[in-house]
Amino acid sequence: MRILVGITGGIAAYKSATLVRGLTELGHDVKVLPTQNSLRFIGSATLEALSHNAVDPDLYTQVQDVKHISLAQEADLIIVAPATAAFIAHYAVGLADDLLLNVLLAATAKVVIAPAMHTEMWSHPATVKNIRILKNRGVFIIEPGIGRLTGNDSGVGRMAEPDDIIQTSLSISSRGLDMLGRKVVVAAGGTQEPIDDVRFIGNRSSGKQGLAIVKEAKARGASVTLIAANISGPMPEGIELIRVSTAAEAEEKLSHCLDADAIFMPIAVSDFRIDQVYQGKIHRREDESFDLRLLPNPDILKGLVSKRGSSTKPLLVGFAAESVTGETELIQRAKAKKSSKGCDVLVANNVSEGAIFGSDETEVQIIEDNKATKVSGTKTLVAHALIDLIAQRQ
Ligand code: CTP
Repeated sequence: MRILVGITGGIAAYKSATLVRGLTELGHDVKVLPTQNSLRFIGSATLEALSHNAVDPDLYTQVQDVKHISLAQEADLIIVAPATAAFIAHYAVGLADDLLLNVLLAATAKVVIAPAMHTEMWSHPATVKNIRILKNRGVFIIEPGIGRLTGNDSGVGRMAEPDDIIQTSLSISSRGLDMLGRKVVVAAGGTQEPIDDVRFIGNRSSGKQGLAIVKEAKARGASVTLIAANISGPMPEGIELIRVSTAAEAEEKLSHCLDADAIFMPIAVSDFRIDQVYQGKIHRREDESFDLRLLPNPDILKGLVSKRGSSTKPLLVGFAAESVTGETELIQRAKAKKSSKGCDVLVANNVSEGAIFGSDETEVQIIEDNKATKVSGTKTLVAHALIDLIAQRQ
């Protein structure tokens, strides 16, 4: 694909080098169009070397080639990252006073922008209004995350990570907003069952696969609810976020979600809870052992299957982390688990030797009907494949 990467003048411009490199490594033909101000943060030589194409931000060179029109017509996709508040304001009102803005006004390709600025600037009514104008015009906004900003401050305004920008942009460009009007619920993370005031039974689920599904569904236009069980770190913007801790809380929240088009269950549910939660803190006893009595938790996914009854909606997608010796055993176990749970799709991975947990990479078997499809790569890639399953259904 021919991709034009616009870079505007903010400190996050240094991350654009990674963005350009990632796109060229995927085999895309990348041209970079920095603004003059962005070149205060990153050099043309870096961008030329990484994109394998010349970089010239000047509107008034090679005038005979009518550059702004040829660049606009050549691009299959335009990504602007970072997009500063000033750039967003100019673009919103159509003020084309440099080469990048001229190209954008002449382009018909899909445009994705990744804003980056301080929190106060991002939440200023002028920026809020400009973003709304651009959204209404069909520009896709990859919302900034929460995190460390340039100074000592932190908050919302940090540019999305280059890998996320790449995955989201490529997904939008190939699939478009094919999930508009759909409702997706994702239950992710790991439940915690309290033992006393300070201890709990928990598990090692990071919630990363769930977050990747949330971002993918949102990028493709779905309205998304995330039921987050003990997930730390920044949460995606523009979704309904419901925080839970125990299996019982997750079950209660999920019972109100049967109007969704799909429910994804990468949540690691504790199979047991403590019979009598101790009030206060259990203190160490020198020579005395004691027993914790565990009670089984309900199987939430099975419960959703039975509440759904004969309806085909929501599509119910279970996940299983299995410790197995190889692919054949993984597929066998996954098929058996899918039929015992009664869900429509089961996504299984092999977690022997501690693989996958907390990692960005994964390898899964997606079991649908009686067919197994292997997907390996980033958790974002798995999310693409899973959202494709919903998008294809009526
Ligand atoms: N699940 C659930 N409620 C439970 C346990 C699991 O809803 N009490 C869901 C998980 O969210 C997941 C799927 O069921 O989507 C499979 O989870 P897994 O832990 O593999 O299932 P278990 O029935 O606990 O099987 P195992 O005995 O192999 O752990």
